Amino acid sequence: MKIDVVIGLQYGDEGKGKVCHSLLKDGLYTHAIRFNGGGNAGHTIYHNGKKLITHLIPSGVFFGVKSIIGPGCVVDTHNFFKELKYLEENGIKTEGLVFIAKNAHLVQEIHIDEDGHDTSIGTTKTGNGPCYRDKYARKGLRAEDYDKLKPYLIDVYEEFYQQDNSNFKILAEGAQAFGLDIDWGDYPYVTSSHCGVGSVLNNGFNHKHINKVYGIIKAYETYVGAKKFQPEEEIFEKIQQEGQEFGATTGRKRQCNWIDWDLILKASRMNGVHRIVMNKVDILNKVQAWKIKHNGKTLEFNSESEFVLWVKKELSKEDVRVSFSYTPHDFDVGD
Ligand code: IMP
Ligand code: MG
Repeated sequence: MKIDVVIGLQYGDEGKGKVCHSLLKDGLYTHAIRFNGGGNAGHTIYHNGKKLITHLIPSGVFFGVKSIIGPGCVVDTHNFFKELKYLEENGIKTEGLVFIAKNAHLVQEIHIDEDGHDTSIGTTKTGNGPCYRDKYARKGLRAEDYDKLKPYLIDVYEEFYQQDNSNFKILAEGAQAFGLDIDWGDYPYVTSSHCGVGSVLNNGFNHKHINKVYGIIKAYETYVGAKKFQPEEEIFEKIQQEGQEFGATTGRKRQCNWIDWDLILKASRMNGVHRIVMNKVDILNKVQAWKIKHNGKTLEFNSESEFVLWVKKELSKEDVRVSFSYTPHDFDVGD
C-alpha cells in the first residue's frame, strides 16, 4: 500500500484540486481520501471541459475511484447529500464510490449558526471551527451516529488493513494549507485542522505508506479572511482580476501578494515535499511582473524564464523537483 499526498504550502487555493484531478486521470490510484477540513474547502476542477466545484468529496469520484472522506474531516450531511446530487446532475457517477469514515465528525446546525456570527477570523461560515472544538471537547457526533449515512460508512482499518492491500495506491487530497494550519499557520488567522502530511497519518495510515508528497503553490499568494494581507499597490488588483481570484466556497475576493519564499521553504521542509507544482505562472505574464519575497527582501525578475530559473535553482538545493503549470492546461506529472 502506497500513499501519495497533495498538500498546499501557502494559504489555500493553490490549485490542489487541479493537481489531484491530473494525478487521478492516469488510473493509477485505487482510492482517494480527504484527510482534513470539511465544506470550508473548495476544489475547482475542469472535468471534460466543464468547470465543477466540490467541497467535500475527493476527486477520485471523477474517475470511478473509491473516494473516502477520512476520519480527520468534518461532515455537514446536508451539504454532503447536496454535493452527491450536484455530481450526479453533472454526469459524475457516485453510487458505490463515495464513503465517509464512520469516526468522522458531523457538523451540526449549532456549529453553523455559531460560525455564522464570526467576524474576527473571516471563516467560511461552514461550522468547521465549532465542530472541531466540540470533537476535542468530546461532545461531538460522528458519522456512525447518523442513520441516514449508514450506506456510506466505511471503517478505515477494515478497508485498508483487513484485506489484501498490496496493490492499493491511495491519493490523499489535502484541504487548506500550511499557512492556514492550526499549529503552523498565522494563528489565529487559521483553520481548525492540521493541513500537512502528519494529518494523513492521523487518518489511520503510517509513515511506511507515504510515497510521494506533492506541495502545491501558486506563482503569487492569495488569502481569504479577516486579516489585512494585500499591500496597497495596484498590481495586486490586477493579479486578482487576471487570476480570477474569488473564493470557491464563499465567492469572496482573495487578497493577493507576492510569494513568501520563506514560508514555502518551511512548509516544504517540515512536510518532506518531493515535488512542488507551481500553478498559474501565466498570470504573472499577464501583469508582466515577477517578484518573490525572501529573507526580508523583495527579489525582482525581468521575465518568466528568469523567475522560473531562480525557483528551479533554489528548489534543487532543497532536493525538491518542480513543475510549472499554466491555466487552464493540465499539470504534467512528469518525473
Ligand atoms: P474556516 O476554515 O472556515 O474556519 O476559516 C478559517 C480561515 O481559513 C479563513 O481565513 C478562511 O477563509 C480560510 N479557509 C478555510 N478553508 C479555505 C480554503 O479551502 N481555501 C482558502 N481559504 C480557506
Ligand atoms: Mg480552494
